[in-house]
Amino acid sequence: MGNPKISVVITGWEAKYYDELLDFVTLFQYGKFIRNLMWKETSVTPDSRVAELGVGNGRNAILLAQRVKEVVGFDISPDMLEKARKKTEKYRNIRIVEKDIREKFEEEYENYFDAALIALAFHGFRDEDKEKIFENVKYILKPGGKFYILDYNQMDYSRAPFYFKILIDKFECPLAEKFLSYPLKDMAEKHGFKMRKKREYVKRLFQYTELTLTK
Ligand SMILES: C[S@@+](CC[C@H](N)C(=O)[O-])C[C@H]1O[C@@H](n2cnc3c(N)ncnc32)[C@H](O)[C@@H]1O
Repeated sequence: MGNPKISVVITGWEAKYYDELLDFVTLFQYGKFIRNLMWKETSVTPDSRVAELGVGNGRNAILLAQRVKEVVGFDISPDMLEKARKKTEKYRNIRIVEKDIREKFEEEYENYFDAALIALAFHGFRDEDKEKIFENVKYILKPGGKFYILDYNQMDYSRAPFYFKILIDKFECPLAEKFLSYPLKDMAEKHGFKMRKKREYVKRLFQYTELTLTK
């Protein structure tokens, strides 16, 4: 593996230029792509409360805040939290909270949210931490709430295109390759979620899944 960092905690220059990096590596297609996902593929209403786990610098939160009552973004990186707070300060319906999403959520969030989102981050957690995240999302969602995951798709890595292998091998944390064979649907079911919708993008290398909490 080229990159020994086992984590998706983004700090330093990567945090400072996170949006620019994402735009650059996607040849400036990411802005349109994520706007489309947040505005057209995420089922929310003006009354919805949404949690973003690993909110980063707040790009998705800002898009969602234009359609919902409240967005609470949780993150652990001081650099990302600082950027997110600055970027979202004029949005009165966005709250940015320092929180390790592997840890149990405070009681105030029990059954509080209509939807939760984790974007470009789930692959970077160890399997036992993914289990904790599923349980935490179950705790903070209302019955029937939605859990959206934007991440790599499940695939046979040996048959993936060379440019994707470069991304995974040289730039991603080692857990990313493991995620490509992670049984997402089965694990979601184990924690009480049904996968009702799945969209695939960029030659099926990425997925956006909608899981519905059946509690
Ligand atoms: C790759 S970034 C994605 C940011 C944002 N979701 C987006 O799509 O632009 C992953 C984010 O997850 C955060 N993160 C990583 N581990 C975390 C943890 N245990 N608890 C909370 N946030 C975490 C990182 O600090 C980073 O901001």
